[in-house]
Amino acid sequence: MSDELIIRAARDIAQAKKVVALTGAGMSVESGIAPFRGKGGIWEKYDPIEYAYIDTMRTNPGKCWILLSEMQKEILKASPNPGHLSLAELEKLGFLSSIITQNVDGLHHEAGNNNVIEFHGNHRVGYCMECGNRIKAEEISLETLPPHCDCGGVLRPDVVFFGEAIPHDALTRSNEDARSCNVMLVVGTSAEVQPAASLPGVARSSGATVIEINIEATSFTGHTSTYFIKGKSGEILPKIVDTLKNESANLTT
Ligand code: OAD
Repeated sequence: MSDELIIRAARDIAQAKKVVALTGAGMSVESGIAPFRGKGGIWEKYDPIEYAYIDTMRTNPGKCWILLSEMQKEILKASPNPGHLSLAELEKLGFLSSIITQNVDGLHHEAGNNNVIEFHGNHRVGYCMECGNRIKAEEISLETLPPHCDCGGVLRPDVVFFGEAIPHDALTRSNEDARSCNVMLVVGTSAEVQPAASLPGVARSSGATVIEINIEATSFTGHTSTYFIKGKSGEILPKIVDTLKNESANLTT
């Protein structure tokens, strides 16, 4: 990773009127949460066609809960890593307007960010598919699967399954942010799942600088991204924040 690119990112952020971040599973890998794709990814172990579609949740919820219970345990054990904490600091310093996250782990909120658009929902909350009663994930017993509500209905996490629509409000706000930002930080996403993967293109074609941070190149790299910073989000983001804090006088010119 080059220091030049860190300084370039800090300068772009310092000079922008509006900065937004789009984050994906790579952001939480350093918190001990497995990504979906690649080596050790969730989809290597569980085929999403079998385990993650809303039709399966309706007809055979016990099957979906094999995967969901594993995710729930991992999420409830996890804490924000230096990458999350850096984005929280960026918001506190007035540099970051919002985060659009595909992650369902709630770690951006836990790190201290206030303006988080949860594009795929939040696994820390569940609700009953019969009566709609809402329940915290830590109160959902995983002893027998699928877990049930007191009313007898089956519980589900408040996440977006394959085959379900993105919540209207999240989609509208994300598109507005993508269209109106001057800088979009795209962190730890493989760029494979729509419609989230279209947002960097919306930002770029509206004139924004798209800064991609990832441990490996994606289909955005060299096309949608204005430039690519190779490395772990938990290492790159703290360096950008340190540069913004220590060099602020030199970055605005
Ligand atoms: P993926 O698992 O597809 O991609 C994770 C990305 O993070 C990859 O590009 C990795 O190279 C990168 N990565 C891994 N560790 C990293 C680190 N420490 N720092 C930076 N980058 C790192 O995850 P998403 O792109 O978020 O949707 O997946 C998008 C959606 O696909 C998910 O929200 C989920 C899934 O199916 C639903 O379940 C609806």
